[in-house]
Amino acid sequence: MFGGDYNPEQWDAATWAADDALMREAQVNTATVGVFSWALLEPAEGSYSFDWLDATLDRLHANGVRVVLATPTASPPPWFTLAHPDALPVRPDGSRLWHGSRDTYCAAAPAYREASLRIAAELGKRYGSHPALAMWHVHNEYGTMCWCDHAASAFRAWLRARYGSLDSLNEAWGTAFWSQHYSSWDEVLPPRATQYLPNPGQSLDFRRFWSDELLARYVEQRDVLRSHTPEVPITTNFMGPENLVMDPWSWGREVDAVAVDHYLSSASPVAGAADIAFVSDWARGIGGGRPWLLMEQAPSTVISDGVLTHRSPGRMLSDSLEYVARGSDSALFFQWRASRAGAEMYHPALVPHAGPDSRMFAETVALGATLSRLGEVAGSVPVPASAAVMVDASSQWALQTRGLPSPHVRHLDVARAVHGALWRSGIGCDVVAAGADLSAYSLVAVPAVYLMSSSSAASLRAYVAGGGQLVVTFCSGIADEQHRIWLDGYPGVLRDVLGIRVEEFHPLQPATSAGLVADGGSWTGRLWTERPRTERLWTGRLWTERLRAEGASVLAAYDSGDLAGLPAVTKHSFGAGTAWYLSTLLSDDALAALLGSIADAAGVPASPPGVSVTRREGTDGRSWLFAFNHGSSAAWVPTSGVDLLTGVAVAGTLEVPPGRYAVIREEAR
Ligand code: GAL
Repeated sequence: MFGGDYNPEQWDAATWAADDALMREAQVNTATVGVFSWALLEPAEGSYSFDWLDATLDRLHANGVRVVLATPTASPPPWFTLAHPDALPVRPDGSRLWHGSRDTYCAAAPAYREASLRIAAELGKRYGSHPALAMWHVHNEYGTMCWCDHAASAFRAWLRARYGSLDSLNEAWGTAFWSQHYSSWDEVLPPRATQYLPNPGQSLDFRRFWSDELLARYVEQRDVLRSHTPEVPITTNFMGPENLVMDPWSWGREVDAVAVDHYLSSASPVAGAADIAFVSDWARGIGGGRPWLLMEQAPSTVISDGVLTHRSPGRMLSDSLEYVARGSDSALFFQWRASRAGAEMYHPALVPHAGPDSRMFAETVALGATLSRLGEVAGSVPVPASAAVMVDASSQWALQTRGLPSPHVRHLDVARAVHGALWRSGIGCDVVAAGADLSAYSLVAVPAVYLMSSSSAASLRAYVAGGGQLVVTFCSGIADEQHRIWLDGYPGVLRDVLGIRVEEFHPLQPATSAGLVADGGSWTGRLWTERPRTERLWTGRLWTERLRAEGASVLAAYDSGDLAGLPAVTKHSFGAGTAWYLSTLLSDDALAALLGSIADAAGVPASPPGVSVTRREGTDGRSWLFAFNHGSSAAWVPTSGVDLLTGVAVAGTLEVPPGRYAVIREEAR
């Protein structure tokens, strides 16, 4: 799918005609329509105006463009707000938000639910059999939370179902502290603004509640649409992992295709490619390894600290192929044509304000031409990696709780650091959920997976005992799934596997670092060499801790301060496998060297550092190899077939010059 969000309601007939011609020129085949169109589709309660949407779908169909049709429920019209003020969202401090932007609703409010299902049903009825309809796009980026009374009563119902009794809830939240004991369900509230620190268990459960509540809202719209169109796939677009209000692992099962919006975090080519790799691997993981859809990306630009920055020419194309290499079946954008007015009028678009006579549109045409040569790849399945990184929404949320040892430790930052180190070492990686079946992996990394149930820990234990290589970082397995500390030394639930015991946390201020010395030897690149103990080997940041080895061997120790001489990095044989522990966030190079050598020893296949090689397989025995060289020297990749981008045959070895890429249709192997 190539194209993106299309908002013809902002334009006149002359522009529509121009759009048709430009879409043909760019070989656009997909338009996402109607995302925020509620006020135009239902200008007054129960009265509908579908003429413009009828005309749009007919026109797109005639032009060979398939439609991803959205339900517009992410932006209720002004009349809705005025008629149902109780459905407006309320912030933790009790203030209510007004219309005038978007996403102005409480998803738990009965009036909002009713109105949403009504408009979804109308769309299902009217467009269910339209030949342009390719897919339903429910809502847009579910992600609003609300602290109102409707949310409070839905939260209580959710808590009752989870805990069964108030006694269990009191126990789980540790309400014996600070006189928070609840004697009646009616006393339980959302974590509204409080005088001092909120209750960690309550805050965590509220995040989980909203994930489930929003999922229920998605499912009810989905089911209405499905009743009209049992054959048409239905999805919703997820925000990237950092901004996600929901736990994507539970949503992955409910969507027909995982669809993700990804706005790059960096304009730098290498950091950008690492970001794409992480988010793509995550998106693929959510769908259980299926192909997925990149539903939105920004053409050309990255907004960095509020300042619009351009990706360099050509990168929109190569970045789009990076997503495809990691399982995306689409390159869809927000948006087709830049708006003249409205909150996002400066947001980049495939057709910019300057019009088609522009660098941006020329790149759009080039991308369309390239993607048209890759149509055969769609639907093929990405080959699973041999290494995996664990990502856990509850740990991300729990580590954001105020009152923890450091506000600077974020699960996703550590997960990205570990994933990035593997990526820089040329090692392909899957992203897996806590508790996932790990048996197919040779190497599993657990990066600041702060909350860990005894059953997730048991699956890690079984994985190592069975011969797996496990790398665990600081801040993993510290608390149970209710955010209650595992006692008798951290990380209580993994101590035996790791052969260590942590007594105290010594987190670091952001600008400081800790020196590490090798305990008997070290890696240089991927080679282990003996070194004198005094030589500083690595540095760590973010976190250090007072750690005892209890069975583990010490690979590196802290070189100074109160922790001088104490273990920093350890290795423990457990059953048939090995568990490694990193008590600090190693510098990027050190992390890449260490993980690279562990992966080598575990037999994980790797390409040269900085080179990313992935494969997708079709059902007919065909496969496609994608290679990107982010390094500074040429790389050689074993493969035979034909380069779909250039038409050149490859026999045995593909040369990928620095900064270049290739897509090879491989001969049947
Ligand atoms: C997305 C959203 C789009 C648009 C875009 C701008 O999060 O779904 O509607 O607002 O951001 O970057």
